[in-house]
Amino acid sequence: MEKENKALFIIFGGSGDLARRKLYPSLFRLYLNGVLKKDFAVIGTSRREWPDEYYENIVMDSIKEVNGATDENTQSFVKHFFYQSNDVNDVEHFHILKQRASKIAQKFNVNGPWIYYLAMAPTLFGTIAKNLARSDFLDSNHPNRLVIEKPFGHDFDSAKELNDEIKQAFSEDDIYRIDHYLGKEIVQNIVPLRFANPILKEVWNNKFISNIQITLTEEVGVEQRAGYYENSGALRDMVQNHISQIITLLTMEEPLSLNPKDFVNNKYQVLASINNFSKEELKNNFVRGQYRAGNGFLGYREEEGVSDDSKIETFAAGKFVIQNNILNGVPIYFRTGKRLKQKQSRVDVVFKSKKDGIYSEAQSDVLSILIDPVSGYRLKYNGKSIGDNRNLDQFSGERILKDAEHHQMPEAYQRLVHDVLNGDKTNFVQWQELSASWKLIDQIIGFWNEAPLSDEFFYEAGSMGPKSANELVARDQNYWVYQG
Ligand SMILES: NC(=O)c1ccc[n+]([C@@H]2O[C@H](COP(=O)([O-])OP(=O)(O)OC[C@H]3O[C@@H](n4cnc5c(N)ncnc54)[C@H](OP(=O)(O)O)[C@@H]3O)[C@@H](O)[C@H]2O)c1
Repeated sequence: MEKENKALFIIFGGSGDLARRKLYPSLFRLYLNGVLKKDFAVIGTSRREWPDEYYENIVMDSIKEVNGATDENTQSFVKHFFYQSNDVNDVEHFHILKQRASKIAQKFNVNGPWIYYLAMAPTLFGTIAKNLARSDFLDSNHPNRLVIEKPFGHDFDSAKELNDEIKQAFSEDDIYRIDHYLGKEIVQNIVPLRFANPILKEVWNNKFISNIQITLTEEVGVEQRAGYYENSGALRDMVQNHISQIITLLTMEEPLSLNPKDFVNNKYQVLASINNFSKEELKNNFVRGQYRAGNGFLGYREEEGVSDDSKIETFAAGKFVIQNNILNGVPIYFRTGKRLKQKQSRVDVVFKSKKDGIYSEAQSDVLSILIDPVSGYRLKYNGKSIGDNRNLDQFSGERILKDAEHHQMPEAYQRLVHDVLNGDKTNFVQWQELSASWKLIDQIIGFWNEAPLSDEFFYEAGSMGPKSANELVARDQNYWVYQG
């Protein structure tokens, strides 16, 4: 039986898309499994004027499809929800919000943290933090936790500016920066896989691993997000956060403990070890691309809201080489992009093939960690070809999660909200990591801004991206395991 948590949630952007699609269903799942029971309340805020009953209906609507929802449990759940109109630029509104929050917290016997979830534009994060402090929210006798979403900054300078603003109100220990990849089942299993299995632990080093490949591809184009994407691109949208985080989990040294401080410190060491890139490395180790029309799809420049001469990359690939005691010198390749052949999130760990001894023809063993849309693990290994011969063949053993197991898996946001309730920061991004990853991204973008677009910049929509991404790995005598 789960421990009951007592908390007050104040959701800024309570009428928005993220709150409706992710937060309310996650809170409801936590309610269904007893993590939240009686002593909790949620106040949704945004500028529009909504009566409480209207808000209850909005919440009800967003949870009705959740597995296990009944008339009875949805009704009792939404009785914990309240709405307060609030313009975050107006400190007076925060005073009113504070009074209401105190009353609601008392009514629900909330003897636990107050959790401020900023489900709105990051440009307003600093203002909200400042106004929370000014209106005495943070002086109270309860823990205060701030939860924020990506994008956290546009580059290192803007991320630092934003961080400095927030830090005036909240200490690093109380800031929970969400990267929803860190809430995914398979991503959370990378560390146990590496360190709980002597077989893998012993070979997870540069003596045995040839290279590691991270692929996060999307089939969809820019959809309705051109306004955001035109100022972002694949590197900022996917590499600065999700891919950097996955790299840290794959390559960090074993932490002293699973305590968040030890854990996150080792992750940070990975990013800090990827030193300044030389001009040569920036030129050779990173590839950008943009989809052009093909396979019945529009090109990026033809999409609504995109400028005709946009140079924004909808595809990025690259090679990082980290320096630490275990994986020094091992290339870590990544690629990500939109309008590619298939949606696929996976990691392929390619082991060195054994060229000496009696089986010099043996191929590389490959461990694939499959994140989405299929979740599981696959090991390719060599063995004797079946039959009256002595030939070698490559076989594949796999454990793919079944539908029933998928249903048991908590949704990423559900896990992360649960962690916030527990005050567990293991799966959140610390400022050190964030600043280190921005410094890397800034170098690449700075170089791209100066460099002319290559002839291979445009790739056909529905393909696997620019050919130069294949050349990137071929130059090291490697190849992408996942071919689409
Ligand atoms: N949607 C997703 O799936 C998703 C995924 C990952 C990250 N995120 C991040 O999550 C955040 C929210 O995204 P979203 O898609 O939910 O945005 P959204 O649908 O545009 O919602 C924005 C919310 O902010 C409120 N708001 C805007 N200005 C305000 C102000 N001055 N004072 C008070 N409230 C104000 C809006 O309501 P009013 O207009 O009534 O004020 C609305 O509730 C963004 O940082 C986004 O990057 C979203």
